Amino acid sequence: MLDLPVIQDRDSAPAATGIEHTGAGRKLYVETYGCQMNLNDSEIVQAIMNEEGYAHTTTPDDADVILLNTCAIRDNAERRIRERLKHLRYYKKRKSSLVVGILGCMAERLRQRLLDQEQLVDLVVGPDEYRRVPALVADAAGGGKGIAVQLSRVETYDDIVPLRTEGISAWVSVMRGCDKFCTFCVVPWTRGRERSRALTSVVEEAGRLWDDGFKELTLLGQNVNSYKDEASAADFPDLLAACAAAVPGMRIRYTTSHPYDMSDKLIETMAAYDNICKYIHLPVQSGSDRILGLMNRKYSVEHYLERMAKIKELMPGCALSTDIITGFPTETEEDHRMTMELMAQVRYDGAFMFKYSPRERTRAWKMGDDVPDEIKTRRLNEVIAQQQEIAAEINQQAIGSTEVALVEGPSKRNPAEWQGRSDTNKVVIFPHNEQSDYVVGDTIRVRIERSTSATLFGEVVAA
Ligand code: 5AD
Ligand code: SF4
Repeated sequence: MLDLPVIQDRDSAPAATGIEHTGAGRKLYVETYGCQMNLNDSEIVQAIMNEEGYAHTTTPDDADVILLNTCAIRDNAERRIRERLKHLRYYKKRKSSLVVGILGCMAERLRQRLLDQEQLVDLVVGPDEYRRVPALVADAAGGGKGIAVQLSRVETYDDIVPLRTEGISAWVSVMRGCDKFCTFCVVPWTRGRERSRALTSVVEEAGRLWDDGFKELTLLGQNVNSYKDEASAADFPDLLAACAAAVPGMRIRYTTSHPYDMSDKLIETMAAYDNICKYIHLPVQSGSDRILGLMNRKYSVEHYLERMAKIKELMPGCALSTDIITGFPTETEEDHRMTMELMAQVRYDGAFMFKYSPRERTRAWKMGDDVPDEIKTRRLNEVIAQQQEIAAEINQQAIGSTEVALVEGPSKRNPAEWQGRSDTNKVVIFPHNEQSDYVVGDTIRVRIERSTSATLFGEVVAA
């Protein structure tokens, strides 16, 4: 069923303001929060605005339009945006014609409330309404306030080439939305129902990216296992294989997979292609079956460990990472201990670890937030400490080995060093000077000499 986007305008712009619906000469600054999907969405919005004549700027100082692409996954993500809005008042004082908009998941979640609560905000646009941004910005420039938050069952922005401004790595959204309804998660409400892009369109984009000089692409989706190409009934492993075959020189990554449907076919496909990176992010959330049940995750610890064993069997060197939530409603010390145990057993290369944050409208919201904050924090600190130790031990074992790294550019900390990324998604740091004969985008070999829990350091060796 086609959901037609609907715009409900508040104070809609007077007709005779003389404002044209084009951005000729005006400058747009976009700031992105949250996941990689949002980064790719910001590139889509920039492409849409670019078509209307808006120029891209990398600083709010000279911007005529400032858009914040926001995240609503946890309360602290939203608090950060509120703080940022306070800072942006300064720019509005300097330039009264400045237009400020909120895009993304927080816009979708709060809708009209955001316009009511935040005086500075002129427009609120949800993830499926980005085609409306130019019209809403034009109305706002004429003094109107606009909101567009209709979710769609079909919008994939398939026909829009994202405006990628830098780098050698590109994100490519292959599906949008999520139908899993994990009880803690607001995403099914902010990003709507699952829908996939056509396989041919994704493969064409991969080819174009290769021609444009990109060396790595990450296929994105809230839940990539649900990918389905309507025309051919191809599934996600088919899509991955089609991309890997179409651009054999390109490194291919993907995120995020759900453990419930991490199929043998997906693991076999990863193993079959050298250019599919040997790195899997597989969020487990908890090591307690009781909590997994309450979370509606649809798998048991046993199933999860069996999937891990299969991955390790077919791809012994494959790096693994996960997401963990501490302090989900009713979580006991015993549940927490089981999470620690699972993490010790799997020995993840990395993990993203969070305190449970209640989200309105989710099923867990109604369960009550009964684990006191200091206990959530203590459990979080325990999982972080254990994870750092494990990651440090794993990286220590890499010392003496040679890693293949894709050169990304100067390291953030030290200009005399450059950084790259290994196939297994680890940051690799190596010296750089005038004699260095590699450039950004090259694949080099680095002999690892030391490591920390997050990074490998080494010397470049001949290919
Ligand atoms: N509280 C804490 N963490 C959450 N996540 C999603 N929703 C919440 C929440 N309400 C985490 C999950 C998910 C990751 C993207 O964010 O671990 O995998
Ligand atoms: Fe949220 Fe679960 Fe969907 Fe991931 S799979 S986006 S955690 S509902």
